[in-house]
Amino acid sequence: MEKSLILFKPDAVQRGLVGRILARFEAKGLQIVGLKLRRFPVALMRKHYDAHKERPFFDNLVEFMTSGPVLALAVQGKNAIEVCRTLMGATNAAKADPGTIRGDFGLSFSNNLVHGSDGPESAERELALFFPDADELVEWTPVAEPWVYSSEER
Ligand code: RTP
Ligand code: MG
Repeated sequence: MEKSLILFKPDAVQRGLVGRILARFEAKGLQIVGLKLRRFPVALMRKHYDAHKERPFFDNLVEFMTSGPVLALAVQGKNAIEVCRTLMGATNAAKADPGTIRGDFGLSFSNNLVHGSDGPESAERELALFFPDADELVEWTPVAEPWVYSSEER
């Protein structure tokens, strides 16, 4: 089982899409293991997007991500990182495939609703940033797990 850090960006919260977007992760079979809503500090968001710090869009990105409440979600599942990226769709929401979160709800490159970790190392790093205390991630076994995965897959 793998964990991924998902952020519902300020546009998703402001547009009242939290419930509908969260429902997609749950409906897929992904397990919620952490959840919090905060207006996160600029310093934290700069660290989160550190890989982009030399890019021309960095300041605007951090400003956007700290312009309102963000929902941080930790999900768990088999290949959760890749599964979440597929659910989210392409970065440019205007070009993202229908059926994806960005494809169904967005038209913008920057206001693209969700963030998802892009690999195991970034997932570990990002989860530690947004859920720094050990007790913030909950270990539990979903009763539906035997129905979500076959016995060979579990
Ligand atoms: P994210 O990190 O937010 O999940 O998005 P992503 O992996 O699909 O895209 P990434 O390349 O990591 O870029 C992070 C965010 O920066 C904004 N961006 N703007 N103007 C530009 O060329 C540009 N490139 C990226 C986007 O809002 C993207 O989500
Ligand atoms: Mg990214």
